[in-house]
Amino acid sequence: MNFKEFITKVSHKIDIDLTSYKEKRVKRRSKNLINKHGIDNYQVCLDKLTNSTEFQREFLEYMTINTSEFFRNPDNFKYLQKEIMPQLFKTTKKVKIWSAAASNGCEAYTLAIILNELQIDPSRYQIKATDIDPSILEEARAGKYKKNSIKKVAPQLVDKYFTKEKNYYQLDSKIMNQVKFDNLNLLTDKYDSNLDLILCRNVFIYFTKEIKEQLTTKLSNSLTKDGILFLGNTEYLLQPEKFNFKKIYTSFYKKC
Ligand SMILES: C[S@@+](CC[C@H](N)C(=O)[O-])C[C@H]1O[C@@H](n2cnc3c(N)ncnc32)[C@H](O)[C@@H]1O
Repeated sequence: MNFKEFITKVSHKIDIDLTSYKEKRVKRRSKNLINKHGIDNYQVCLDKLTNSTEFQREFLEYMTINTSEFFRNPDNFKYLQKEIMPQLFKTTKKVKIWSAAASNGCEAYTLAIILNELQIDPSRYQIKATDIDPSILEEARAGKYKKNSIKKVAPQLVDKYFTKEKNYYQLDSKIMNQVKFDNLNLLTDKYDSNLDLILCRNVFIYFTKEIKEQLTTKLSNSLTKDGILFLGNTEYLLQPEKFNFKKIYTSFYKKC
């Protein structure tokens, strides 16, 4: 069985279209996992995927890198706090926010911390956070973080919003209650509409150019006029106007 055939079959098994992801990366990651388990060939790997839900779960985790941290790219979050949030709350009664590939929740909880720091009443916003990977969503809901995840959080905010336990930092339940987590596949699921702010960060890097364009169109359609798309620092739109966007700052695009 060649790689293309293997990946098509795997996609059916784990219910994610891996052909939408950059081939080189999927190949490298599959190879690593196959070597790790001492698997001989693609057919054996496929059989193992059929017989073991545990292996299916591991395979999915291998394909979906979950790296995240609070205040990832701090300059961008500063801009969000100082410029974007005040503007959004000036013009919108209830601000609808979506963290679209939320991983372990650091990103969505960073938003909640910022809004609490801005002293905005939680009744004035809604934060939805979604990911394709159910196990990372479980972690997100638990709100327990290693020191590494909070290294960019200002010390006074760590004191204010986290409790130090033996091996981890527990996030304050007040912040946790402000984020609703859900399972969502960006490739196949329907997106909400009339959103004011979407964070879709550090996931486009995994997709092919065609898929990236399709998803950008879907994200643009989900935003209200003047809504904001916030991408990862290494991701950018070459022709934002093609998707009705205007670049307003590094990684920030406004829907026209
Ligand atoms: C590197 S993390 C980014 C986390 C966070 N946005 C950040 O920038 O820190 C990428 C996330 O995208 C998720 N992901 C990958 N493919 C996806 C898809 N098709 N739909 C939804 N989420 C996906 C992965 O499970 C992973 O949690």
